[in-house]
Amino acid sequence: MPTPQYFIGLLSGTSIDGVDCILADFSGTKPSLLATHSEPIPKTLRDNILTLCADRALSLVLLGETDVALGRVFSHAVNNLLKKANLTTSDIMAIGSHGQTVKHHPAGPDAFTLQIGDPNTISQCTGITTIADFRRKDMAVGGQGAPLAPLFHQAYFHDDAVRRAVLNIGGIANISLLKHDLQNDLIGFDNGPGNVLMDSWINLKQDLPYDRAGQWAASGSPHPDLLSRLLDEPYFALPFPKSTGRELFNLDWLQRKLVGFEDVSDADVQATLLELTALSIAQSIDWTSRGIQEIAVCGGGSHNKTLLGRLSKLLPDIKVFSSAELGLSPDWVEGMAFAWMASKTWKGEAIDCRSVTGARKPCILGGIYLAENGSKPPL
Ligand SMILES: Nc1ncnc2c1ncn2[C@@H]1O[C@H](COP(=O)(O)OP(=O)(O)O)[C@@H](O)[C@H]1O
Ligand SMILES: [Mg+2]
Repeated sequence: MPTPQYFIGLLSGTSIDGVDCILADFSGTKPSLLATHSEPIPKTLRDNILTLCADRALSLVLLGETDVALGRVFSHAVNNLLKKANLTTSDIMAIGSHGQTVKHHPAGPDAFTLQIGDPNTISQCTGITTIADFRRKDMAVGGQGAPLAPLFHQAYFHDDAVRRAVLNIGGIANISLLKHDLQNDLIGFDNGPGNVLMDSWINLKQDLPYDRAGQWAASGSPHPDLLSRLLDEPYFALPFPKSTGRELFNLDWLQRKLVGFEDVSDADVQATLLELTALSIAQSIDWTSRGIQEIAVCGGGSHNKTLLGRLSKLLPDIKVFSSAELGLSPDWVEGMAFAWMASKTWKGEAIDCRSVTGARKPCILGGIYLAENGSKPPL
């Protein structure tokens, strides 16, 4: 048995539905997921994150305080995970913390992206060396900073025997077309809205966090004209590399598109939003000419049966299934991705994001925040 190499992956995604925290062992040829924990985000903190994302009445004090408060919640998540796994800080090589995106602005000469959840706080409150700030490093070498998960999808889900894609349906949906042989590149891009619009609408109309299994959407019918208006969004026609977030797809965006469609019932709007997610994914590339045979789905949207049913109908020649069938629960794929990235940084290994984010060269992602008594990377 090789000596275990335990890394923790930590993140809160666009949906802000909780902090995902996973423990994985990277000593084998394939990482193995050993323990998981989901840490709730207190309501006030979530509201503050949403205020920062919306970029309204922004105060630097709110930004700084939310950064540290979230760092503490991330630390609780790690400490709770360690209790569950019956491990101590000294067992862990490092934490890979994605943080919480509050602004993703990949266009223009001073493109930037900002993830908060202070890694200094995390390394101090857990006693574990913390690696964070993965996206800004990619941007510093000319990349979009997102999506980064396709690199892990390639490493974990690639199979020589089949042309496979991985679809992550989080708040935003991102697609990875795995590199199959030396002839093609790994392709990965943010497709557009995953759950974020459906979540916003059901939250506004029914005060629920999300539409369980897409049942409310299934009770309505997509409205063709509204759907066309939503699909008119220029982002969908952009070539990749491309990445997006809440700054584009949010409740304000939806409400602007709804002007003139006041007669459409709330359930029909939800059905239209689900159809938008399904159609925009199905139409994002020519799946057939790229020879894709199957799509492994991960992220919370993989639990939306109505959505997966629609996707299977729209792509009849492709097998659409949960990543659980490939041995990794859809809820923990992103957490695994950031533990994996931390393991690479720890070893001083560069990650080649060129074909996904448009980065100019492979680079070692992230910054390292050493804990005094924690493990030190062998750099
Ligand atoms: N049972 C379910 N039915 C429908 N949607 C679900 C279900 N469980 C989770 N989701 C959706 O998944 C979202 C969370 O997905 P997640 O992968 O964590 O996204 P993110 O990375 O943006 O945080 C929830 O906000 C919700 O929209
Ligand atoms: Mg989430």
